[in-house]
Amino acid sequence: MTVLGCERFRVPPDHSPSHAKLMSNYDEVPYPDFIHPATHPGNMAAIARLHGVNAPPPESCRVLELACGPGGNLISLASLLPLSQFEGIDLSAGHVKTGNTMIGKLGLTNIQLHHGRIEDWMTEAESDEDRFDYIIAHGVYSWVPEEARQAILAICQTRLSANGVALISYNTYPGWHQRQMARDIMRYHAEGIEDPQTRLRHGKALLSSVAQNVPQGSAYRVALEEELKALEQANEAYIYHEQFEDTNRPRYFHEFAAEAGTHCLQTIAEADWGDSTYEQVRPDVASALASLPKIRRAQTLDFFRRRTFRQTLLCHQSVAVSEQLQASAMESMHFVTSSNLQGDQITGSNGLSGTVDHPATQQAIQHLVSQYPTSMSFEELCSVGESQEPVALATLKADLFNLVCVGLVSVSASPTEACREVSSHPRATDLSREQVLLGDTVTNLRHQPIRLDDTTTHLIRCCDGETDHANLIESMIAYATANGGLVDGDQVVTGEENLRPLVNAKMASNLQRLAAMALLVG
Ligand SMILES: C[S@@+](CC[C@H](N)C(=O)[O-])C[C@H]1O[C@@H](n2cnc3c(N)ncnc32)[C@H](O)[C@@H]1O
Repeated sequence: MTVLGCERFRVPPDHSPSHAKLMSNYDEVPYPDFIHPATHPGNMAAIARLHGVNAPPPESCRVLELACGPGGNLISLASLLPLSQFEGIDLSAGHVKTGNTMIGKLGLTNIQLHHGRIEDWMTEAESDEDRFDYIIAHGVYSWVPEEARQAILAICQTRLSANGVALISYNTYPGWHQRQMARDIMRYHAEGIEDPQTRLRHGKALLSSVAQNVPQGSAYRVALEEELKALEQANEAYIYHEQFEDTNRPRYFHEFAAEAGTHCLQTIAEADWGDSTYEQVRPDVASALASLPKIRRAQTLDFFRRRTFRQTLLCHQSVAVSEQLQASAMESMHFVTSSNLQGDQITGSNGLSGTVDHPATQQAIQHLVSQYPTSMSFEELCSVGESQEPVALATLKADLFNLVCVGLVSVSASPTEACREVSSHPRATDLSREQVLLGDTVTNLRHQPIRLDDTTTHLIRCCDGETDHANLIESMIAYATANGGLVDGDQVVTGEENLRPLVNAKMASNLQRLAAMALLVG
């Protein structure tokens, strides 16, 4: 058995050729520092608890991320859950260095990133210290050779705490059959080309040429055009690794569940809430599906949805997992909603709508809406207005459960503490203020990525908790003057005399927007 400690993370000098290639690929073309909201322990715990699993408290847990890339996902989680401990491991030295630089800048002490191979973590846990409450393996299972894939499952088996929850993402069929066609065309055409950008360019060029030269309206053309459209919308480094790496092995959900079973693990549900609902199928089909056994039902739903990607939650086989969602889990949850309640009509920002009949629930939801983006616990919601009455309490629980199930209210097992009121000296999160120095995407207090325009990026940089509104206005005017003005509707406003009234008029609403995006802490 390997001795625990730093030894475990050492990269052995005798890499197999495939590992050396993978490592150089990721060092050569670093993977984008993506945030995966579903990997928040608060989300993983909420879904597990809804299925009857007594998942550990996210506020004081231990989290391991396998193949953490440049660490952005884990760093955001570590800053959101300061009393929890986080460890990440990645094969790319470049990725780990990038992550450690950010950790140093933020002064985080609850996170460690290690340069090493997943395979080297396949050691038995010797004590609870070696176990993790949450294990995340995002963007790796389908993309690594068999040995690493087995290691991911083995680590979940041996290192997950008794009621711990793992999340493994993977490409899946049937959706990937079509995607694979595009991948094969691109890879074939780019064979022998070394330079990643040239490979990408050549691959896409052939795909596009084939798409344009097959009969219009044919199923083949429609499929290729769909894939080209998806490529146009995606980040180039992401496309490179997804489409050009040697290994990309999608699997059916039922195959994944069977693989997990060989390591005494069972599936709980999808981590992306709402991703397993029946919305897209007819009611008669939905009721036929509902009568199927769990794995068969989920697999069949994938056929209806032509699913391409899964983020599946797992736990030990010894844990009792309920197929029926447990409304009682609402009592330990925190709620947040960006929906709008008018009378008894609730409308979500996603276009969904519903009815809230009971006055006590209406009052509670109205209050919840007013608190956005801060969350409220079940207990707090119970003390709003009339809901203390036992009957109203039961109704509130049932109503909340329904609203969560249809996606009009979001749920988490940990709170979101964002600043809703803009203070005299606004302060953006430390993480977002570091992130805007590197690019245009920041992570908010709900662990969601948000892409910003240039001016908002500058505003975040200035929101340091020491600058008042008057000085923020001056800074914005100076920034706009130096950068060719500000866009207002379809006009570009230039010159200090024109910029001043515009910035004056818009500062309050722009700061309020930062608050609504859950980016302010003071
Ligand atoms: C597609 S990226 C995913 C990064 C991140 N988890 C995400 O989903 O955004 C795959 C990552 O797996 C890492 N990787 C590949 N094989 C590995 C192995 N055997 N051990 C550790 N990391 C590995 C790569 O270095 C790379 O950072």
